[in-house]
Amino acid sequence: MRALILCGGAGTRLRPITHTRAKQLVPVANKPILFYGLEAIAGAGIKQVGIIVGDTAAEVEEAVGDGGAWGLEVTYILQEAPLGLAHCVLIARDWLGDDDFVLWLGDNLLEQDLQGFVDRFEADRVATMTPTLTGGQDRPAAAQILLKRVPDPHRFGIAELDREGRVVHLVEKPEQPRSDLALVGVYLFDPTIHEAVASISPSARGELEITDAIQWLIDHGRRVRSEVLEGWWIDTGKLTPLLDANRLLLEMIEPRMEGEADAGSRLDGRVVVEPGARLVRSHVRGPAVIGAGSEVVDSFIGPFTAIGQRCHIEGSEVEHSVVMDDSSIVDAGRIEDSLLGHHVAVSRSRALPRATRLMVGDHCQVAIGT
Ligand code: TTP
Repeated sequence: MRALILCGGAGTRLRPITHTRAKQLVPVANKPILFYGLEAIAGAGIKQVGIIVGDTAAEVEEAVGDGGAWGLEVTYILQEAPLGLAHCVLIARDWLGDDDFVLWLGDNLLEQDLQGFVDRFEADRVATMTPTLTGGQDRPAAAQILLKRVPDPHRFGIAELDREGRVVHLVEKPEQPRSDLALVGVYLFDPTIHEAVASISPSARGELEITDAIQWLIDHGRRVRSEVLEGWWIDTGKLTPLLDANRLLLEMIEPRMEGEADAGSRLDGRVVVEPGARLVRSHVRGPAVIGAGSEVVDSFIGPFTAIGQRCHIEGSEVEHSVVMDDSSIVDAGRIEDSLLGHHVAVSRSRALPRATRLMVGDHCQVAIGT
C-alpha cells in the first residue's frame, strides 16, 4: 500500500494566505495541516508516500524533506497546473505502479485514524477471495470511499447509496442533492483506477474529477465500498473551517509549560507555552498555544487561539484565532475569529487625524470593529 498526498491546487478560497503560502502548510494548533496527514499515513504502517506539488513545491519540500521525520520515504511529483484530483493520479501512474494506494487531500483533517479504514479494505479483499464468507457473490472492491453526513451537500462531492449501502452514483456539488453523504478527502484504490482516470474527460470546470473516475468504476461493474465517518472531518480550504479545525485540535492538546510566566500572569486550562515564550502580566485562557520565542505582554489570549513563533502581542486581546510566525499585535483592542499570516503587524495609531490606516494586499479581508 502506498499513499499519494495532493498538495498542489490553487487555494483560491484561502487567499490572500495562499498567495504566498501552501494552504497545506497553514498551521492549526501550531502544526501544519499536512503534518497531521503524514502522521495518519505513518500510523497506518504506510512507508512509500508520493506528494503531488504545484507552485508551492519548494515550500512543501522544505517542510517535509525526505519524510524521514515520520519514518516515511517521500517522492515529489510535480503537477504543471491544477487540472484535477484524477489528473494527480494520472501523472503519478509510474510511481504508483500496480500497488493499492490511499489518495489523501493534503488540506483535509480527520479525527479517525487511517489504520482501520485500510484494514477493512484489505479484509474485504480476503473475504471476497474466500467465497464461503460472501456466498461467492462479490468481487473485491476496486475502491473504498469515506463519507460524512453534511448539512449543506450542494457544496461537496456527494454519494448515493442503494439499499445495501453500495455506492451507485457520485455527483460533484449537485444543485439538488439526492443524499447528504459527502466524500471525505481520503480514498483507497486498487490499480483499476488507472484505467478509469485515463478514460474520463475533463468536467465543465476543466478538471479531471475523481468523482467521475469512481463513477467510471461503478459503470464498469466494479464494486466501490463506502464507510460513513463518525468523528469530525474538516476540509480546511476556507477561513471558518480552518478556525474550526484549530479549535478541535487545541481541545486535544496536553498542557505544557516550557517557557516562562511572571507572577502577574495567569494560565487557565489547556495551555501550551513553547520554549523561549514569555508571558508578562498576561492572562491565557486555554485551550491555547503560545509558540516558541513569542512574547505576550499586558494581554489576554482567549480560548481556541494559536500564536505562532516569535510573535509579539502587547496590550491586546486575541481569541479564537490563528496568528502565524513573526507577527505582532500591539494596542489593537480585541481580535477574534481571525487568521493572520506571517510577519503581519497590527497596531493602534495615535497619529492625527484619527483614522484607520491600512496597507493590505490583494484579496485580504478587514472587518473594523468599533
Ligand atoms: P481543492 O481544495 O479541491 O482545490 P484547490 O486547492 O485548487 O482550492 P480552491 O478550490 O480554494 O482554489 O483541492 C483539494 C486538495 O488537492 C488540496 O490539497 C490541493 C490538491 N490539489 C492538487 O494537488 N491538484 C489539483 O489539481 C487540485 C484541483 C487540487
